[in-house]
Amino acid sequence: LDASTLITTLAGEENATLDSRFIRDEDERPNVAYNQFSDEIPIISLKGLLDDDDKRAEICNKMVEACEDWGVFQVVHHGVDDKLISDMTDLATAFFHLPPEEKLRFEMSGGKKGGFFMSSHLQGQPVQNWREVMGYFTYPIEARDYSRWPDKPEGWRDVTEIYSEKLMELAYKLLEVLSEAMGLEKDAFAKACVNMEQRLIVNFYPKCPQPDLTLGLNRHTDPGIISVLLQDQVGGLQVTRDGGKTWITVQPIQGAFVVNLGDHGHYLSNGRFKNADHRAVVNSNSSRLSIATLQYPVAQAVVYPLPIQEGEKAVLDEPITFSKMYMKTMIKEIELPKLNKLAKEQDSL
Ligand code: SIN
Ligand code: FE2
Repeated sequence: LDASTLITTLAGEENATLDSRFIRDEDERPNVAYNQFSDEIPIISLKGLLDDDDKRAEICNKMVEACEDWGVFQVVHHGVDDKLISDMTDLATAFFHLPPEEKLRFEMSGGKKGGFFMSSHLQGQPVQNWREVMGYFTYPIEARDYSRWPDKPEGWRDVTEIYSEKLMELAYKLLEVLSEAMGLEKDAFAKACVNMEQRLIVNFYPKCPQPDLTLGLNRHTDPGIISVLLQDQVGGLQVTRDGGKTWITVQPIQGAFVVNLGDHGHYLSNGRFKNADHRAVVNSNSSRLSIATLQYPVAQAVVYPLPIQEGEKAVLDEPITFSKMYMKTMIKEIELPKLNKLAKEQDSL
């Protein structure tokens, strides 16, 4: 499977049937529509967070409740400029509308870190996701490899730099509130990261001829501490709170960010905060764009619950490094049974 054949498959909107590489097993297929919105996910305004103690306490309570119930919430009045959000959205959309050969100049292959990639073939998953992705490291600044950042459309790189900085600031603010809410020093979560790193992932999900058979992005939890997602008004992000039995579609809100906790956040809170189980579904009416900034600790950061009380049992048996924790998560996600099945099928060809 190479990216150039996949990109033509994804772009082939005239195809009436889905290429078999994208067809999911029945139990994984979407059972709730991309636009069947639910208003259950809490929406939290950050107005007054920095200058009004009563408001801060109220925000704190709402955030904790959301993290305990769902591991996900939406924020409005977050302080990130509307113009920056619309510039980022417009430029990202323009990137994905470039001709395939232009996007493929940045293809991630041969161990290159950052760039453009298709679907899920790089993760070695047997079924492909119906998406195109552009992703790269934005923090620490030394990790930026500008040769892997697209130079088109004009302005993309400058806007991306400002966007990632503003989103990092927002992530720090959110972590302060969560640390306080747990009765810890306000920099406790940030300190546990040693230095917070960030990866920017821009997802584009083209229109799909048979959206009921496939997924834009398979079910997963994010490995890091906290993720902040900007989505357009189309809809497609789904979350669950009962182990995947009932999925709900998150209502898109203009200018809001969807915030979710990752595995690291879940462990630091000793399981009190959920690591949101989520996926993206696609549709046959329009393409969809989402821009995620994933915040991580450094690879060597020690992962262990912060607030162990007398008599409380830790969700982790022993402190491990983030990189080790991440490897364990990856193995879980690759879904070994499916890989084995695929390997068997290929052997018999
Ligand atoms: C993600 O999980 O990174 C993206 C989900 C989405 O596109 O809504
Ligand atoms: Fe995610």
